[in-house]
Amino acid sequence: MGDRLARLLKPYTGEPPPGLYGKSSDLLIRIAGIAVPHFLSVVTRLGGDAALPALPRRTNRRAMVVEERSLVAGDPDVVALTLVAADGEDLPRWHAGAHIDVHLPSGRTRQYSLCGDPDRADHYRVAVRLIPGEQGASHEVHALTVGQLIEVSEPRNAFMMPLPGSGSRAERLRFIAGGIGITPILPMVRLADRLQLDWSLRYTGRHRESLPFLDQLEAFGDRVRVLTDDVSGLPTPAHLLDDVDPWTAVYACGPPPMMDLVHGAVPERTELHIERFSPVPVVNGQPFELELRRSAVIVPVRADQSALAALLAVESDVSYSCRQGFCGSCAQQVVAGEVEHRDQLLTDEQRRLGQMLLCVSRSAGDRLVLDL
Ligand code: FES
Repeated sequence: MGDRLARLLKPYTGEPPPGLYGKSSDLLIRIAGIAVPHFLSVVTRLGGDAALPALPRRTNRRAMVVEERSLVAGDPDVVALTLVAADGEDLPRWHAGAHIDVHLPSGRTRQYSLCGDPDRADHYRVAVRLIPGEQGASHEVHALTVGQLIEVSEPRNAFMMPLPGSGSRAERLRFIAGGIGITPILPMVRLADRLQLDWSLRYTGRHRESLPFLDQLEAFGDRVRVLTDDVSGLPTPAHLLDDVDPWTAVYACGPPPMMDLVHGAVPERTELHIERFSPVPVVNGQPFELELRRSAVIVPVRADQSALAALLAVESDVSYSCRQGFCGSCAQQVVAGEVEHRDQLLTDEQRRLGQMLLCVSRSAGDRLVLDL
């Protein structure tokens, strides 16, 4: 496999993606991603307190212009944006699976997977599904117009794709995408096909009209199997993981039920690479309370709920982005109580000074008092 891969890699002009060996959990992938200093994200936070020690800050924001917007599914709910640098310069390179932080005019920051061609340095491309019933970031993205200026941070990769024979022991690849989860998978599929790897894709959604980029995927013929709820019913392990064995690397991105299904049913010793669009589930959580010092409001946090989710239920203006403990946007200052840190981002010094990431970390006791 190694010799064959070396031959196949020849026409690939980009730097090979970084490799991860053996079975990969999404946590391991994220740790690998945040280990590189420039991956660290800018921190914004609610409330003002000059004494709050600074988290690592990204200084790599750049102004970009919306060059083109188009609808890329049969329904009108998925918009793709082509973004070019406002100064006309080339953009930093990226690898399949990477995402960018998009800083929206409202001040919100959201992360979107790059779905274009990594070999193109003149633009980035993202696609965003409108989330019904909310007036949040997806509505803001859909309202962006051609010519509008926004800020975007450098690509970073929390969903790396080690290639068979070069960081992966797998001999074939199974991609699994649910709806808008196709966005990080699309560049992977193109790369796998270009390298003539043995790959296949299972693409799920409610109905064909809801699936973005179907036209591009049709070119790959039988390698792509579309499974929609209205025809096949809800996806099952047999639909998604047929023929998957320990020599297959599985790459999955989609809604939480699909991800849980894949995670639970993938065979032992199979490489599993996961990109979540949703908060990581709380594991072994205990209930506790948040006390907001300035307002004296008490916020109960359930055992299966993050502190961020509990806080957002009473205070919608709390900053956050990834909800997975790797961007730093949700950092808050704790003034009393002991934190059970569950992130890999904060330094020992930041923890000692009382910082906490609300999206993943919890209280080691009954109550934490936040400087809010
Ligand atoms: S929201 Fe990204 S670390 Fe909490």
